[in-house]
Amino acid sequence: MKIFLDTADVKQIEVLLETGMIDGVTTNPSLIAKSGGDIKETIAAICDIVDGPVSAEVTATDVKGMLAEADVLSAIGPQVTIKVPLTKEGLIVCKQLSARDIMVNVTLCFSAGQALLAAKAGATFISPFVGRLDDLGADGMNLIADICTIYDHYDFATEVLVASARHPQHVVDAALIGADVITLPPSIIDQLYKHPLTDKGLAAFLEDWKQTGQSIL
Ligand code: E4P
Repeated sequence: MKIFLDTADVKQIEVLLETGMIDGVTTNPSLIAKSGGDIKETIAAICDIVDGPVSAEVTATDVKGMLAEADVLSAIGPQVTIKVPLTKEGLIVCKQLSARDIMVNVTLCFSAGQALLAAKAGATFISPFVGRLDDLGADGMNLIADICTIYDHYDFATEVLVASARHPQHVVDAALIGADVITLPPSIIDQLYKHPLTDKGLAAFLEDWKQTGQSIL
């Protein structure tokens, strides 16, 4: 399963790239606003340091406006993946951009029916928001399982990108289902490394090692 970073904070991306675990980046208008930077400069700065897909979201809601914004964002580089909302207009734009071999990430997906339409529109990625469904008392991971089953039935090339992750268990559940990608805020990446027994075990090993008075170097 690929891991994307869900942030527009270039400094945080730089730090986490050192882990060698990051396969791409997703942003959205809220994350750009939080970063405080200009969208074009921020996406360009991310593309300079990341090898994989970098999602940049359009903010127009009509077809003409979305296509015009997509042209500006795509010009930043070939790895820029245009993020469009899962609306009728968004899927019309998706179909046109994918016909031009521009990667498209269809975002704000909350149902399997919507995901089916996005695949038919040629989306490179579909982004179902698991955390926001969980917040409403639904089970976001059921949606991931349903979409993976439907896509498998028809051999759709669209990759299932689990979005709105809230905790490390979402990562494990997504991997068990066989989702293609999960996008994670930096805090969840850090949490994934952690286990109290790892910390406890390491502390005990180091204490015992100290008693020996030895040094490997
Ligand atoms: C990523 O593509 C989404 O925009 C993001 O994961 C949404 O996460 P949130 O529900 O925590 O805002």
